[in-house]
Amino acid sequence: MRRKLVAGNWKMNTDRGEAVELASALARHCEASGDVDVLIAPPFVWIEAVATAIDSSAVLLAAQNAWHEPSGAFTGEVSLEMLKEAGCGWVILGHSERRHLLEESDELIGEKVAAGLAEDLSVILCVGETRAQREAGETEAVLDRQLLAGLVGCEVESTSRLVVAYEPVWAIGTGLTASTDQAESAHAHLRNQLANRYNSEVAEATRFLYGGSVKPDNASELMRQPNVDGALVGGASLAVDSFVAIIEAAAGV
Ligand code: 13P
Repeated sequence: MRRKLVAGNWKMNTDRGEAVELASALARHCEASGDVDVLIAPPFVWIEAVATAIDSSAVLLAAQNAWHEPSGAFTGEVSLEMLKEAGCGWVILGHSERRHLLEESDELIGEKVAAGLAEDLSVILCVGETRAQREAGETEAVLDRQLLAGLVGCEVESTSRLVVAYEPVWAIGTGLTASTDQAESAHAHLRNQLANRYNSEVAEATRFLYGGSVKPDNASELMRQPNVDGALVGGASLAVDSFVAIIEAAAGV
């Protein structure tokens, strides 16, 4: 049985006070680890303050991105080691906003995933098709390409620290959610690909999160699908009430 994971990606939102307040409220809600893993990914600059706020709780801490080289002349970038030292145990890589707005390539994301796992971090690798790709019938080909390129340097021993997030680009921040059938079918396909890439034990053990306009009112039905092991939440993770409602939905399925 895979444990559900509800992850909040705060993106470029919150000021310092809001970040600490939100993290502290979640920490109170998740004092002990319950039936669901809960993770938050604040902006880089609030990571240390948030790490302090959730210190004695079960809330997990992720960065939203990282650079794969350990140090050097990479102006504006933050290394995986730095993030670890700041308190992150996790990193989100390959988010669609980085693929599309920042033009990160499949190859770069593969290098980052390999470096993150080598640094002993847990990695959430995001994949997802655009609306045009879905309409052209290319969804599975796009998911395969992003998944396999993302995992090019991921050895079987590291897969216990891998989570895959399926985030259809057309559902992110749009209020459009994938139907339960669309989400389940993409997740089942990805799980199958993971079995081909590694083996069926790895495929069965790996968690697949759905992301894209997850809200309290659609979270349960999405997470009830057999291959949906949790959610990667953007907008609804910015308010305690809605994020806690999604955590409770995960605990209830
Ligand atoms: P929304 O929940 O705001 O659609 O964002 C999803 C997302 O991109 C999470 O990483």
